[in-house]
Amino acid sequence: MAESILIGAAPAKINLSLEVLARRDDGYHEIDTILQTLVLGDRVVVVVDGNHEGVVVTGTYQDSTPANRANLAFRAAELLARRVGRTNDRLLVRLDKLIPPAGGLGGGASDAATVLRLLGKHWEAPESLLLQVANEVGSDEAALVLGGTVRARGRGDRVEPIPSLPAHDVVLFIPPDTIEQKTPRMFAALAGLPFDTGKVTELAALRQRVDSVDIYNTFERVAFDLFPGLAEQWEWLERATGAAIRLAGAGPTLFWIGSPGEGEEIARRASGSACTIIPTRTADSLWRR
Ligand code: C5P
Repeated sequence: MAESILIGAAPAKINLSLEVLARRDDGYHEIDTILQTLVLGDRVVVVVDGNHEGVVVTGTYQDSTPANRANLAFRAAELLARRVGRTNDRLLVRLDKLIPPAGGLGGGASDAATVLRLLGKHWEAPESLLLQVANEVGSDEAALVLGGTVRARGRGDRVEPIPSLPAHDVVLFIPPDTIEQKTPRMFAALAGLPFDTGKVTELAALRQRVDSVDIYNTFERVAFDLFPGLAEQWEWLERATGAAIRLAGAGPTLFWIGSPGEGEEIARRASGSACTIIPTRTADSLWRR
Protein backbone atom coordinates (compact mmCIF):
# COMPACT_ATOMS: atom_id res chain seq x y z
CA MET A 1 0.00 0.00 0.00
CA ALA A 2 1.16 3.54 -0.76
CA GLU A 3 1.99 5.82 2.15
CA SER A 4 -0.59 8.54 3.00
CA ILE A 5 0.27 11.59 5.10
CA LEU A 6 -2.73 13.24 6.79
CA ILE A 7 -2.21 16.66 8.42
CA GLY A 8 -4.54 18.53 10.79
CA ALA A 9 -4.77 21.10 13.58
CA ALA A 10 -6.16 20.05 16.97
CA PRO A 11 -7.64 23.17 18.60
CA ALA A 12 -7.67 23.90 22.34
CA LYS A 13 -11.10 24.64 23.85
CA ILE A 14 -12.61 26.72 26.60
CA ASN A 15 -16.08 26.30 28.08
CA LEU A 16 -18.36 29.34 27.71
CA SER A 17 -20.72 27.71 30.19
CA LEU A 18 -20.21 24.59 32.30
CA GLU A 19 -23.00 23.27 34.51
CA VAL A 20 -23.10 19.98 36.42
CA LEU A 21 -26.70 18.77 36.77
CA ALA A 22 -26.50 15.46 38.65
CA ARG A 23 -24.34 12.53 39.67
CA ARG A 24 -24.96 9.35 37.67
CA ASP A 25 -24.86 5.72 38.76
CA ASP A 26 -21.95 4.99 36.41
CA GLY A 27 -19.62 7.38 38.28
CA TYR A 28 -19.94 10.16 35.70
CA HIS A 29 -21.94 13.38 36.04
CA GLU A 30 -24.67 14.82 33.83
CA ILE A 31 -23.38 18.09 32.43
CA ASP A 32 -24.67 20.89 30.22
CA THR A 33 -21.88 22.89 28.63
CA ILE A 34 -20.85 24.99 25.66
CA LEU A 35 -17.40 24.37 24.28
CA GLN A 36 -15.63 26.85 22.03
CA THR A 37 -12.54 25.94 20.03
CA LEU A 38 -9.54 28.30 19.82
CA VAL A 39 -6.86 29.17 17.28
CA LEU A 40 -4.20 27.76 19.67
CA GLY A 41 -3.78 24.12 18.75
CA ASP A 42 -1.53 21.10 18.54
CA ARG A 43 -0.30 20.00 15.13
CA VAL A 44 -1.27 16.46 14.22
CA VAL A 45 0.12 14.24 11.47
CA VAL A 46 -1.07 10.69 10.84
CA VAL A 47 1.01 8.54 8.51
CA VAL A 48 -0.83 5.51 7.14
CA ASP A 49 1.27 2.66 5.73
CA GLY A 50 4.60 4.45 6.08
CA ASN A 51 7.80 2.86 7.41
CA HIS A 52 7.02 3.39 11.11
CA GLU A 53 4.17 2.92 13.55
CA GLY A 54 3.33 4.20 17.03
CA VAL A 55 3.42 7.69 18.51
CA VAL A 56 5.98 10.49 18.25
CA VAL A 57 5.56 13.61 20.40
CA THR A 58 7.40 16.90 19.92
CA GLY A 59 6.76 20.54 20.86
CA THR A 60 6.68 22.82 23.90
CA TYR A 61 4.66 20.37 26.04
CA GLN A 62 6.02 17.06 24.76
CA ASP A 63 7.15 15.84 28.22
CA SER A 64 3.61 15.62 29.61
CA THR A 65 2.20 13.54 26.76
CA PRO A 66 2.62 9.75 26.58
CA ALA A 67 4.61 8.83 23.45
CA ASN A 68 3.31 5.26 23.39
CA ARG A 69 0.20 3.27 22.49
CA ALA A 70 -1.57 4.45 25.67
CA ASN A 71 -1.79 7.90 24.08
CA LEU A 72 -5.45 8.87 23.64
CA ALA A 73 -4.96 9.86 20.01
CA PHE A 74 -3.37 6.50 19.18
CA ARG A 75 -6.10 4.61 21.05
CA ALA A 76 -8.71 6.53 19.04
CA ALA A 77 -6.91 5.60 15.80
CA GLU A 78 -6.80 1.91 16.74
CA LEU A 79 -10.46 1.85 17.79
CA LEU A 80 -11.56 3.42 14.52
CA ALA A 81 -9.32 1.04 12.51
CA ARG A 82 -11.05 -1.90 14.19
CA ARG A 83 -14.51 -0.48 13.46
CA VAL A 84 -13.82 0.03 9.76
CA GLY A 85 -11.85 -3.21 9.28
CA ARG A 86 -8.49 -1.52 8.64
CA THR A 87 -6.41 -3.18 11.36
CA ASN A 88 -3.73 -4.07 8.81
CA ASP A 89 -3.00 -0.41 8.05
CA ARG A 90 0.25 0.68 9.71
CA LEU A 91 -0.40 3.85 11.76
CA LEU A 92 2.02 6.50 12.99
CA VAL A 93 0.63 9.46 14.97
CA ARG A 94 2.89 12.52 15.32
CA LEU A 95 1.80 15.20 17.80
CA ASP A 96 3.42 18.62 18.04
CA LYS A 97 2.18 19.75 21.47
CA LEU A 98 1.51 23.46 21.79
CA ILE A 99 -1.53 23.21 24.11
CA PRO A 100 -0.54 23.21 27.80
CA PRO A 101 -1.49 19.79 29.25
CA ALA A 102 -3.88 18.98 32.11
CA GLY A 103 -5.08 22.56 32.24
CA GLY A 104 -8.74 22.34 31.21
CA LEU A 105 -8.00 23.18 27.56
CA GLY A 106 -8.84 19.75 26.14
CA GLY A 107 -5.48 19.15 24.43
CA GLY A 108 -5.38 15.35 24.67
CA ALA A 109 -9.06 15.05 23.72
CA SER A 110 -8.56 17.35 20.75
CA ASP A 111 -5.59 15.33 19.46
CA ALA A 112 -7.79 12.22 19.57
CA ALA A 113 -10.69 14.03 17.88
CA THR A 114 -8.44 15.32 15.10
CA VAL A 115 -6.96 11.88 14.47
CA LEU A 116 -10.54 10.54 14.16
CA ARG A 117 -11.41 13.30 11.67
CA LEU A 118 -8.30 12.70 9.57
CA LEU A 119 -8.65 8.92 9.48
CA GLY A 120 -12.43 9.20 9.08
CA LYS A 121 -11.90 11.15 5.88
CA HIS A 122 -9.15 8.80 4.68
CA TRP A 123 -11.23 5.67 5.34
CA GLU A 124 -14.54 7.33 4.40
CA ALA A 125 -16.13 6.62 7.78
CA PRO A 126 -19.41 8.41 8.59
CA GLU A 127 -19.42 11.20 11.19
CA SER A 128 -21.79 9.16 13.38
CA LEU A 129 -19.11 6.46 13.73
CA LEU A 130 -16.44 9.07 14.56
CA LEU A 131 -18.67 10.42 17.34
CA GLN A 132 -19.28 6.91 18.69
CA VAL A 133 -15.56 6.15 18.84
CA ALA A 134 -14.89 9.62 20.32
CA ASN A 135 -17.27 8.78 23.17
CA GLU A 136 -15.45 5.53 23.86
CA VAL A 137 -12.20 7.46 24.27
CA GLY A 138 -13.44 10.21 26.64
CA SER A 139 -16.07 12.81 27.49
CA ASP A 140 -14.83 15.92 25.59
CA GLU A 141 -13.80 14.11 22.41
CA ALA A 142 -17.17 14.17 20.60
CA ALA A 143 -17.55 17.95 20.97
CA LEU A 144 -14.04 18.35 19.58
CA VAL A 145 -14.81 16.09 16.62
CA LEU A 146 -17.41 18.74 15.69
CA GLY A 147 -15.34 21.80 16.73
CA GLY A 148 -16.44 25.46 16.66
CA THR A 149 -19.21 26.29 19.14
CA VAL A 150 -20.82 23.13 20.49
CA ARG A 151 -23.34 22.34 23.22
CA ALA A 152 -22.66 19.05 25.01
CA ARG A 153 -24.98 17.20 27.37
CA GLY A 154 -25.18 13.78 29.02
CA ARG A 155 -21.64 13.02 30.24
CA GLY A 156 -20.46 15.20 27.34
CA ASP A 157 -21.36 12.54 24.75
CA ARG A 158 -24.58 14.13 23.42
CA VAL A 159 -23.32 16.92 21.17
CA GLU A 160 -25.11 19.53 19.13
CA PRO A 161 -23.39 22.14 16.95
CA ILE A 162 -24.79 25.61 17.69
CA PRO A 163 -24.30 28.81 15.67
CA SER A 164 -20.63 29.83 15.67
CA LEU A 165 -19.67 32.58 18.05
CA PRO A 166 -18.23 35.51 16.03
CA ALA A 167 -14.46 36.04 16.50
CA HIS A 168 -13.43 37.00 20.04
CA ASP A 169 -10.01 37.58 21.57
CA VAL A 170 -8.98 35.15 24.29
CA VAL A 171 -6.01 35.37 26.66
CA LEU A 172 -4.99 32.18 28.48
CA PHE A 173 -3.10 32.24 31.78
CA ILE A 174 -1.38 28.94 32.52
CA PRO A 175 -0.48 28.51 36.23
CA PRO A 176 2.91 26.90 36.94
CA ASP A 177 1.36 23.80 38.62
CA THR A 178 -1.53 21.42 38.13
CA ILE A 179 -2.54 18.40 40.28
CA GLU A 180 -2.73 14.63 39.66
CA GLN A 181 -6.11 13.12 38.71
CA LYS A 182 -7.47 16.62 38.37
CA THR A 183 -10.78 16.04 36.57
CA PRO A 184 -12.20 13.26 38.82
CA ARG A 185 -11.09 15.23 41.88
CA MET A 186 -12.82 18.38 40.65
CA PHE A 187 -16.08 16.47 40.03
CA ALA A 188 -15.81 14.76 43.45
CA ALA A 189 -15.29 18.14 45.14
CA LEU A 190 -18.76 19.22 44.00
CA ALA A 191 -20.41 16.60 46.28
CA GLY A 192 -22.59 18.34 48.85
CA LEU A 193 -22.97 21.53 46.80
CA PRO A 194 -26.26 22.22 45.00
CA PHE A 195 -26.36 21.03 41.40
CA ASP A 196 -26.97 23.39 38.47
CA THR A 197 -30.20 23.46 36.45
CA GLY A 198 -28.96 23.94 32.87
CA LYS A 199 -30.71 27.31 32.61
CA VAL A 200 -27.47 29.28 32.33
CA THR A 201 -26.29 27.15 29.41
CA GLU A 202 -29.69 27.44 27.72
CA LEU A 203 -29.26 31.23 27.69
CA ALA A 204 -25.54 31.17 26.89
CA ALA A 205 -26.32 29.14 23.75
CA LEU A 206 -28.17 32.16 22.33
CA ARG A 207 -25.39 34.68 22.92
CA GLN A 208 -23.46 36.13 19.98
CA ARG A 209 -21.22 38.39 22.06
CA VAL A 210 -19.35 37.19 25.13
CA ASP A 211 -17.36 38.92 27.83
CA SER A 212 -15.60 37.17 30.73
CA VAL A 213 -18.26 38.41 33.17
CA ASP A 214 -20.89 36.39 31.25
CA ILE A 215 -19.09 33.07 31.67
CA TYR A 216 -20.39 30.49 34.16
CA ASN A 217 -18.26 27.56 35.27
CA THR A 218 -19.49 25.51 38.23
CA PHE A 219 -15.91 24.36 38.99
CA GLU A 220 -15.04 27.89 40.09
CA ARG A 221 -16.80 26.99 43.37
CA VAL A 222 -14.17 24.37 44.24
CA ALA A 223 -11.04 25.27 42.23
CA PHE A 224 -9.54 27.54 44.90
CA ASP A 225 -9.60 24.67 47.43
CA LEU A 226 -7.98 22.16 45.10
CA PHE A 227 -5.27 24.04 43.23
CA PRO A 228 -2.61 25.45 45.55
CA GLY A 229 -1.87 29.12 44.85
CA LEU A 230 -4.67 29.54 42.32
CA ALA A 231 -6.69 32.03 44.40
CA GLU A 232 -3.68 34.34 44.66
CA GLN A 233 -2.91 34.09 40.94
CA TRP A 234 -6.55 34.78 40.09
CA GLU A 235 -6.75 37.83 42.38
CA TRP A 236 -3.47 39.14 41.01
CA LEU A 237 -4.71 38.83 37.41
CA GLU A 238 -8.05 40.51 38.10
CA ARG A 239 -6.30 43.40 39.82
CA ALA A 240 -3.63 43.78 37.12
CA THR A 241 -6.00 43.56 34.16
CA GLY A 242 -9.06 45.26 35.67
CA ALA A 243 -11.13 42.54 33.99
CA ALA A 244 -13.00 39.42 35.03
CA ILE A 245 -10.83 36.29 34.77
CA ARG A 246 -12.43 32.85 34.52
CA LEU A 247 -11.55 29.17 34.98
CA ALA A 248 -11.10 27.01 31.86
CA GLY A 249 -12.95 23.66 32.11
CA ALA A 250 -11.82 21.75 35.20
CA GLY A 251 -8.85 24.13 35.49
CA PRO A 252 -6.39 25.29 36.52
CA THR A 253 -5.95 27.42 33.37
CA LEU A 254 -7.50 30.88 33.76
CA PHE A 255 -8.68 33.01 30.85
CA TRP A 256 -10.13 36.27 29.67
CA ILE A 257 -12.48 36.55 26.67
CA GLY A 258 -13.73 39.73 25.03
CA SER A 259 -13.97 41.83 21.92
CA PRO A 260 -11.46 41.50 19.07
CA GLY A 261 -8.55 43.90 19.48
CA GLU A 262 -8.75 44.04 23.30
CA GLY A 263 -6.72 40.91 24.09
CA GLU A 264 -3.35 42.51 23.46
CA GLU A 265 -3.88 45.12 26.18
CA ILE A 266 -5.12 42.48 28.66
CA ALA A 267 -2.00 40.36 27.98
CA ARG A 268 0.23 43.45 28.38
CA ARG A 269 -1.30 44.35 31.76
CA ALA A 270 -0.83 40.76 32.96
CA SER A 271 2.82 40.59 31.95
CA GLY A 272 4.20 40.36 35.55
CA SER A 273 2.06 37.30 36.37
CA ALA A 274 3.52 33.97 37.53
CA CYS A 275 1.40 32.33 34.81
CA THR A 276 2.45 31.67 31.21
CA ILE A 277 0.40 34.05 29.06
CA ILE A 278 -0.92 32.84 25.70
CA PRO A 279 -2.97 35.31 23.63
CA THR A 280 -5.22 33.59 21.10
CA ARG A 281 -8.67 33.86 19.50
CA THR A 282 -11.83 31.83 19.11
CA ALA A 283 -11.92 29.69 15.97
CA ASP A 284 -14.68 28.19 13.87
CA SER A 285 -14.64 24.50 13.17
CA LEU A 286 -12.24 23.31 10.50
CA TRP A 287 -14.64 20.49 9.64
CA ARG A 288 -18.14 21.97 9.83
CA ARG A 289 -18.47 24.13 6.74
O1 C5P B 1 -14.31 10.70 30.31
P1 C5P B 1 -13.08 11.42 30.77
O2 C5P B 1 -11.87 10.55 30.74
O3 C5P B 1 -12.90 12.69 30.07
O4 C5P B 1 -13.37 11.79 32.29
C1 C5P B 1 -12.42 11.74 33.32
C2 C5P B 1 -13.11 11.59 34.67
O5 C5P B 1 -13.87 12.77 34.98
C3 C5P B 1 -14.14 10.47 34.75
O6 C5P B 1 -13.53 9.26 35.10
C4 C5P B 1 -15.08 10.96 35.84
O7 C5P B 1 -14.54 10.72 37.11
C5 C5P B 1 -15.07 12.46 35.62
N1 C5P B 1 -16.21 12.89 34.80
C6 C5P B 1 -17.48 12.96 35.35
N2 C5P B 1 -18.54 13.38 34.58
C7 C5P B 1 -18.35 13.74 33.29
C8 C5P B 1 -17.06 13.70 32.71
C9 C5P B 1 -16.01 13.27 33.49
O8 C5P B 1 -17.67 12.65 36.54
N3 C5P B 1 -19.40 14.17 32.57
